[in-house]
Amino acid sequence: MPFAATVLTILPDMFPGPLGHSLAGTALNKGLWSLKTLDIRNFASDKHRSVDDTPAGGGPGMVMRADVVGRSVADAIASQPDVPVIAPTPRGKPLTQQRVKALSEGPGVILLCGRFEGIDERVFEHTFGNGAQIEQVSIGDYVLSGGEMAAMVLLDSVVRLLPGVMGAAESESEESFSVDASWNGLLEYPHYTRPREWEGRTIPEVLLSGNHAHISAWRRAQAEERTRLWRPDLWEAYQARREETPAGKARKS
Ligand code: 6GU
Repeated sequence: MPFAATVLTILPDMFPGPLGHSLAGTALNKGLWSLKTLDIRNFASDKHRSVDDTPAGGGPGMVMRADVVGRSVADAIASQPDVPVIAPTPRGKPLTQQRVKALSEGPGVILLCGRFEGIDERVFEHTFGNGAQIEQVSIGDYVLSGGEMAAMVLLDSVVRLLPGVMGAAESESEESFSVDASWNGLLEYPHYTRPREWEGRTIPEVLLSGNHAHISAWRRAQAEERTRLWRPDLWEAYQARREETPAGKARKS
């Protein structure tokens, strides 16, 4: 069974959206993954199909109702009892490439997208019939108006790792945040293509030398330098990890 994504949302028309294009869209058309939306509004019980109500204790905005959202999650779990349930929210645990990789190696995901001020907290405290609890995940320290675009970001990052989705051309082994052994946690080295000169700038000579050992060494040095300058946090972690390897321990002693 290919990776199966179910998105719970009050805006099902937003999907597949960008996920219907390019790499993810081609993979979707090829059946390398599947995408289903469930309209949370279909789980409302009143004639106005309300999904939200005013916040207990007062305050601005509206809150998504626990009963309606809870039923939608239970319905999704009934179809996919063995996949994680993730709610995109800025208060969640930061999404990492490691988590993305793990998701891509599993059977799928249920994504619960909130709108308005948020979802009634009791939904997050609840344990569903299959023992599942909702995992809250953030894609960065800024606020989106709803979980849908964050769900798309998460799915894009997962889908590109699925078997058969990336050709050799798009291989991930040397890129930023790749989980590949030695480039792990470094930013990408710079890329160049024709023309050889543009606006007075040339392509670094080493890349035109045909000496692949020199090219590799140069790219590695560039990746390390960029990481050190632009992402000292990643650089710190990279160095700490490097010191744990046999070669790193030998260097130290
Ligand atoms: Cl994952 N969801 C929403 N709604 N806003 C966000 C976010 C997620 N990550 C950052 N802002």
